[in-house]
Amino acid sequence: MVTVSSVSTAFASDNAAPTHPRVLQALHDVNVGTAAAYGADAVTERAADALRQAFDAPDAEVLFAFTGTAANIIALASAARPWHEILCSDVAHVLLDEAGGPVRLSGAQLTRLPSDDGLIAPAELDHRLARLGVVHHSQPRIVSITQSTESGRVWTAPAIAGFVDHAHAGGLLVHVDGARIANAIAALDVSPAQAVADADIVTVGGTKNGMLFGDAVLVRRPEHFSGIHFVQKQIGHLASKHRFVAAQFLAMLQDGLWLDTARHANTMAHRLSTGMTGMGLRLASPVEANEVFVHLPADARGPLAQSYAVHQPDPAVPVVRFVCSWSTTESDVDEALATLRPLCKR
Ligand SMILES: Cc1ncc(COP(=O)(O)O)c(C=O)c1O
Repeated sequence: MVTVSSVSTAFASDNAAPTHPRVLQALHDVNVGTAAAYGADAVTERAADALRQAFDAPDAEVLFAFTGTAANIIALASAARPWHEILCSDVAHVLLDEAGGPVRLSGAQLTRLPSDDGLIAPAELDHRLARLGVVHHSQPRIVSITQSTESGRVWTAPAIAGFVDHAHAGGLLVHVDGARIANAIAALDVSPAQAVADADIVTVGGTKNGMLFGDAVLVRRPEHFSGIHFVQKQIGHLASKHRFVAAQFLAMLQDGLWLDTARHANTMAHRLSTGMTGMGLRLASPVEANEVFVHLPADARGPLAQSYAVHQPDPAVPVVRFVCSWSTTESDVDEALATLRPLCKR
C-alpha cells in the first residue's frame, strides 16, 4: 500500500509549486501542427526576442535548458578551460548543489569566496586576481554571482553595478545565476537590465517563477562563450520539441506575468517573516525576496517537521528555510504561522 505523507510542501521550495495556468494554456496553444525541431521554430524566435527585449540586450544570444543547473553549467563551461578558475560565493548553488557539474564540464577549478549571505565584496576578487599570469595557479576567468542569492538576499542595482565593473576591470567575466532573477527585479523595482548590471551572461529562471520547466541563458557577450551551443548539446539540454520550452517563456514574459508572480511570492515571504518576528522568532537573514530563513528553537524543529517539509541548509545550524511562490496564498502563510505559534511558546 502506498502511504501519502500529510506533511505540507507549501513552503518546501518554489519548485514545489504548480505550473501557472497561463503557461499551461500557452503549451496548449502551441500544440498545433508540426514545427522545426531543436529551436529552429518561430515560437523559439519570438521567445528569444522577448527575453532580449526584457533585458535590453538586442545582440544577445539566447539558449534554453530544462533546468537551472544545466543553464549554469552551459554558461560556465563555455567560458572556462581546464586551466581556468571560476569564482563564486561560499553559498553558491554552483558550488554546493550542482554535484560538481560546472567543474566536470569545464575542467576548471571552482573557488569559494567569503560572502555576506551570497553578497560578495568586490575586494574579495583582488586576492584571486593577484594570481593572473602566474603559471602555477589556475587562472581566474569568470565570477558567478546569484541574484537573488541562495540566502534570499538581493544585490541592489548600485552594488551589482559596482561589483561587475570591478570584476571587468580585473579582466574577469561575470555570470549571474538568475534562478530567482524575477524575484530580485520585483523586489528592487528596477529594470531587468539594472538588476544584472553589465554581466556578460545571465541564466534566467523559469521553473521557480511559475513554469512547468525551463531556464534560459542570455549570452550578452557571445564572443567570450564560443562553443556554448555544443556544451548545451553535449549535456542533453538542446530540446528537440523546443517550441514547448520557448512557449512557456513567452507566456511568462507577456504582460509582465513573470514579475507579477515574483512580486506575489515576495509579498507572501514578507507576510510570513513579519508574522514570525511578531511571535519572537529571529530571522537568520533579512528577507529581501521570496525566501525566509529563520532560527527555530531546537525543540520546535521536530514538531514542525511533522507538519511542514522545510529545508535546513546546514544540519549543524538550527535555521530552516521557507520559500514562497506564485501560488502561495495568504491562508497558507497564516496556517504556517498558526502552526509555529504554539511551537515557539514551548
Ligand atoms: C540559485 C539557484 N540556482 C540554480 C538552481 C538550479 O535549478 P534546478 O533545480 O532547476 O537545476 C537552483 C535550484 O534550487 C537555485 O536555487
